[in-house]
Amino acid sequence: MQVTGKKIVVLATGGTIAGTAAAATDNIGYTAAQLGVQELVAAIPALASVPLETEQVAQVDSKDMSFEIWRELALRVGHWLAQDDVGGVVITHGTDTLEETAYFLQAVLAPAKPVVLTCAMRPATALLADGPQNLLDAIAVAGTPGASGVVAVCAGVVHGALDVAKQHTYRLDAFSSGDAGPIGFVEEGRLRLLRDWPMPDEHAAGALKNFVDADRWPRVEIVMNHAGAGAAVVAALMAHGVDGLVVAGTGNGTLHHGLEAALCQAQAQGVKVVRSTRCAQGRVLAKPDDNLPDSRGLSPVKARIALILELLSDA
Ligand code: SIN
Repeated sequence: MQVTGKKIVVLATGGTIAGTAAAATDNIGYTAAQLGVQELVAAIPALASVPLETEQVAQVDSKDMSFEIWRELALRVGHWLAQDDVGGVVITHGTDTLEETAYFLQAVLAPAKPVVLTCAMRPATALLADGPQNLLDAIAVAGTPGASGVVAVCAGVVHGALDVAKQHTYRLDAFSSGDAGPIGFVEEGRLRLLRDWPMPDEHAAGALKNFVDADRWPRVEIVMNHAGAGAAVVAALMAHGVDGLVVAGTGNGTLHHGLEAALCQAQAQGVKVVRSTRCAQGRVLAKPDDNLPDSRGLSPVKARIALILELLSDA
């Protein structure tokens, strides 16, 4: 394994990587977030010679990821990265919202050292569990000289925080970086780098303090365009009280006329609206006559986080 010689800190948050099932043949009927970080590390004898620090930050199925956990996680990552003897941080996480946590951490921390999220598609009790190899690979990436920014490692592929998205419900290689392609591959503990590490997002400067200090996080909801879409969902959200709306449009961010009218009305009433696409690949390309701003290439879930951070910086 390539290592800088500095300590790697493993922060655990739960997920399938820490999940257990009653039978080794059961890859779906398990309970996520059961094993502690010490058990995850102890399952990999090759880590005995690697200088590691471990910390259990949370223990959740990532479908239940919360802003409170994000706040704690961002603070712990920031704490460890500030130590001179720490080379990088690895975060074990569920696959279901991993791309959101990755984007959030890149946006609020823009770290100069590597922060590597990893996960598993099969529980730790599976006949062929993928978690130990993913964790080993993530530690190798975190220890690679020159590594920086937030990335995700799964099935030997390194994805940047901006691009990574879960694309498959079951396969071990569940993530894709879409058009951007992966940052690299991990092969026998060595990184084969294909392109640059994630860059800081200039739209999110000062975002950590804003997020950590917030009395209340802005409420931003996602609505979707589809056949028969209309104004009702937007009207209900407006009546309930919402600070921002992201719309997952069809194709190049197109919207049913009824939904678009409701979103334009919300925008006129001061609610920020951002237009993304429900397409898994590509980005919304802006046109001069667009009524609603596009998401600058962000998927709906990432555009939502960007809008929350923007609203916090405007507050
Ligand atoms: C989770 O996201 O915590 C459960 C699913 C997974 O990790 O694959």
